[in-house]
Amino acid sequence: MNVSPVGRYIILVLVILIGLHSLLSFTHEGYNSATSISSLTSQWRGSTPSNPNAIPEDYYPPPPPSNSSQTDTGLGAGTDLGIHQRKANATFVMLARNSDIDGAVRSMREAEDRFNKKFGYPWVFLNEEPFTDEFKKRISVLTDAPVHFGQIPASHWYQPSWIDEDRAAASRNAMVSENVIYGGSVSYRNMCRFNSGFFFKHDLLQPFRYYWRVEPDVHFHCDVDFDPFLFMQDQQKIYGFTITMYEYERTITTLWDAVKDFMKDYPQYVSPGNAMNFLSDNGGSRYNLCHFWSNFEIADMDFWRGEAYSAFFDYLDKRGGFYYERWGDAPVHSIAAALFARSDQIHFFNEIGYEHNPYTHCPQGDETWKRGKCSCDQGRSFGEFFSSFVLGFKWVLDELGRG
Ligand SMILES: *[C@@H]1O[C@H](CO)[C@@H](O)[C@H](O)[C@H]1NC(C)=O
Ligand SMILES: *[C@@H]1O[C@H](CO)[C@@H](O)[C@H](O)[C@H]1NC(C)=O
Repeated sequence: MNVSPVGRYIILVLVILIGLHSLLSFTHEGYNSATSISSLTSQWRGSTPSNPNAIPEDYYPPPPPSNSSQTDTGLGAGTDLGIHQRKANATFVMLARNSDIDGAVRSMREAEDRFNKKFGYPWVFLNEEPFTDEFKKRISVLTDAPVHFGQIPASHWYQPSWIDEDRAAASRNAMVSENVIYGGSVSYRNMCRFNSGFFFKHDLLQPFRYYWRVEPDVHFHCDVDFDPFLFMQDQQKIYGFTITMYEYERTITTLWDAVKDFMKDYPQYVSPGNAMNFLSDNGGSRYNLCHFWSNFEIADMDFWRGEAYSAFFDYLDKRGGFYYERWGDAPVHSIAAALFARSDQIHFFNEIGYEHNPYTHCPQGDETWKRGKCSCDQGRSFGEFFSSFVLGFKWVLDELGRG
């Protein structure tokens, strides 16, 4: 292998940092509890062995009968027809371009194999251009469930005319020169704004309340034998996630100021029992950049369609930050879910093994991992290691600051 001198230094520094991280994790209790990802999301993870966060057993299919002497009713094994006969008001949704076809097929194939072939929820595909016949053909062959293909109205997608293009362009150029990922992309910004404020307004999604967002080229690593939609509906959850992450601060420089202004102007929308402590370590004066990674979401569109979120999105949109900065739908959705709902309405789906390059959530707990016949390596939930690594730096800096 041929590594440049600079590359060698970077590798050396990384090795030292990872070593320090591991050492501190073992030797400093304070460090360990400050950086363990379970403390980051402990309010949704449940820390007791009986794990109150886990999906209740009723949601799993009953075990098969020990013998087949009973007459087959054609309704499957169980005689309890409660949960297993009900379906939620829900759909899958995927935003994709025609050129994403191979990745879209792979994601859908896995979602069908691991979950939906047993449940038959519909799929909605959205694109800013018309889907080709080839796209529709290759997608439709993957399921017996209904599949709908829709085009996004131009007014939901393109940069609005009231955005000052000179100012937006100057900001894009600045981000390009600072190597901010997607810093120069207008279409990425269109997508973030669409995912923040418009997808749930599309005609094809009007008949539905809950959605599972799937992107091209993701992986579902475990069998999902329970119905997460029904769980959301029965338990009055509004937002479900698998991975949490830090936002790149440069892309949301003034977002938190806008959020604070909104809370001042519309205090009635801030929910009692909210999850502000997930977003801020000092009661709201500063955003800690935590968010749910929104390329996976199982959530309630009626929450996005409701009064609080509509007012919030319009308020943010008027600031122009989707174009003057590069506000992402992940922090926007996360901040809204954390502030305008109760924290117990946000759910961490530990059972759902999920991968979006480069991060994976692999179910924690051996029983859960085995039950899901998971194909992911539990020891390599890289997103969790990465997060704890970043938190490690923060802890060291805080300690230095204190000392
Ligand atoms: C099969 O199930 C029936 C009804 O539950 C039971 O009476 C019978 O003993 C079972 N037979 C065996 C071999 O387990
Ligand atoms: C499903 O939810 C949507 C949005 O809330 C609602 O308009 C629709 O009537 C619901 N459908 C059923 C069958 O309940």
